Amino acid sequence: MNRETAQNRIVRLVGEIQRHNRLYFQEDRPELPDADYDLLFRELQELERSFPDLALPDSPTGRVGGAPLDKFTPLRHRRPMLSLGNALQESDLLEFDQRIRRFLGMNSGEIEYVCEPKMDGLAVELVYEQGILSTAATRGDGITGEDVTRNLKTVRGIPLRLPLPAPHLMELRGEVYLPLAPFRKLNQEREENGEAPFANPRNAAAGAIRQLDSRITARRPLALFCYAPGEVIGHTFTTQTDFLNTIATWGFPVNPLVRKVVGTSGVIDYFQEMGRVRESLPYEIDGVVVKVDSYPLQRELGEKARSPRWAIAWKFPPRQAITIVEAIVPSVGRTGVITPVANLRPVEVSGVIVSRATLHNWEELEKKDIRAGDTVIVERAGDVIPAVVRVLIDRRMGTELPAKPPECCPSCGSTIAKITGEVALRCLNLACPALVRESIIHFASRAAMDIDGLGEKHIDQLLRLNLVGTVADLYTLTSDDFMQFERMGEKLAEKLLGAIARSKHRELDRFIYGLGIRHVGEQTAKLLAAAFGTVGNLAAATMEELLTIREVGPQVAQSISSFFQNPRNSEVMVRLMAAGVSPTTTAKQLGGRFTGRTFVFTGTLTRFTRDAAKALVEQEGGHAAGSVSKKTDYLVAGDEAGGKLDKARSLGVKVLSEEEFLTLMEGAESP
Ligand code: IVH
Repeated sequence: MNRETAQNRIVRLVGEIQRHNRLYFQEDRPELPDADYDLLFRELQELERSFPDLALPDSPTGRVGGAPLDKFTPLRHRRPMLSLGNALQESDLLEFDQRIRRFLGMNSGEIEYVCEPKMDGLAVELVYEQGILSTAATRGDGITGEDVTRNLKTVRGIPLRLPLPAPHLMELRGEVYLPLAPFRKLNQEREENGEAPFANPRNAAAGAIRQLDSRITARRPLALFCYAPGEVIGHTFTTQTDFLNTIATWGFPVNPLVRKVVGTSGVIDYFQEMGRVRESLPYEIDGVVVKVDSYPLQRELGEKARSPRWAIAWKFPPRQAITIVEAIVPSVGRTGVITPVANLRPVEVSGVIVSRATLHNWEELEKKDIRAGDTVIVERAGDVIPAVVRVLIDRRMGTELPAKPPECCPSCGSTIAKITGEVALRCLNLACPALVRESIIHFASRAAMDIDGLGEKHIDQLLRLNLVGTVADLYTLTSDDFMQFERMGEKLAEKLLGAIARSKHRELDRFIYGLGIRHVGEQTAKLLAAAFGTVGNLAAATMEELLTIREVGPQVAQSISSFFQNPRNSEVMVRLMAAGVSPTTTAKQLGGRFTGRTFVFTGTLTRFTRDAAKALVEQEGGHAAGSVSKKTDYLVAGDEAGGKLDKARSLGVKVLSEEEFLTLMEGAESP
């Protein structure tokens, strides 16, 4: 093949492969059998091997990784990747500041610090030679790490090249992490498949990065925040602020919560603020990193053996506590999965009283050998539901009782199925009271039908009084029904009835999500609503029709189809419609995936103008508002975001960085 033909073919192949990658990795609806994809891929690899100079620097042969490796190659860092000294309390920070001032011979004045959230992930180093990402490594022992270039290239948000003119050599360090939403989803999937869930997002991220098969890494939505330079030749940064601002304009993700402060009082305020917002962040942080802003001062301060003198990690107290397992009981979830749950002697874990912990599945329980009566360490890690970390074996008395998986459903007594290929135990009785309870709670929840005020306690009473058996029964409740409750006044009853009535016209996607169809999360529900427009259309959809929707793979399609084929569910549908439940679809919804979603933009935006951002949102059927309220779905915060950010956090509104917003938009693009 001559050069020109090769070049044309390479460009064509790159385009084709990029399209199939998108279908496969982002949209989960591959068009091509794996074998055919592999053929295209191998053809490109071979052409790139024959004509190395024609290979495109951002070729997909890099983005999706390749065949599994046997092992990782060690990679020596040009400069050691140091760790950080720890501060566990305010006095440690004050001493750190004192040491610095003494070292610099400062008698007065304040040090300017940059405060950054301490990401709980995995430290990595990216090396750009002549502007092209050449290698990426884990931290390892600080001197030598592992070559994880192929895996890191699959992390969206890592530029494969720098804008021109690029420095001759540019090393960047940062933390790879798995945001909480995909972490929870991953664990849920693992539990449904009977695999042991990851204890925390950090382990999940580390597992993905240290995957010998980079195609698996590519399927985990890992993210990165960059926070430090390594060796740099051909560019000079003067301060940490300068470094972060510059790399942000080069397209690197920088945590929007980073802030420059003056003196220890500024650091303390920041630390306290992060302690407050921590719970509402979409990722895990385990403290605050405090750095001297000025690079000349950093150089003057230098390093100790393993950590720099100019930085310190101020850690949050661990979200762990010691308590006793009072009992291990089986619990039936919304999809019928029966999981072991530990009833704990109530204990406070960083401000929250914990009295139950999930033990995930029966195999995990056996592996960790947790018994009723055991003294255990519990942790709130990356999840609302706490987990048992381990048993304090030393405290065993010999009277502790191991728990056995139940032989029949603990709620309805039906036989339990163990589905092939899954470890999970499942109750298959759709009328099982536990399952019904969970499905009603889900239906009424904020993200679904949002029946304001109708919480678990009310639902339990409705079930106890036999007033509801399915979600459809909610719509035939009367004031008299509610008045049978133990504590209920007419006003509250009216309020609840009003909230139920208002939910009749919720958006279609919320309704679909509320049905609790296995594998149909909020995102998929939106796509289904947009594609089918009415519940009737969705219920009547064939497998083929379902499979034309992006993100709907065979497993999801099968699940939707069997849901609507189930006579019990059809009956519930009919009764819902008869009761006047008629979910709304707006014209816009048909095209947009942000329909019904409200965005607010605040702070200094560096990646796009505010008008452009608004236009993007509206194009997808969303609404861009000027101020934050309970109705806001996302706040996109640029630099120096102020009051709106605080308000969003206090209302629990999801906060996105510009980068995260762009990622969301990318996902919203039509194929
Ligand atoms: S700076 C010499 N900044 O914390 C300074 N580290 O305990 C190098 N980390 O290995 C680190 N967030 O994995 C820095 N904003 C941040 C960080 C951060 C998390 C991790 C990093 C490092 C460890 C040190």
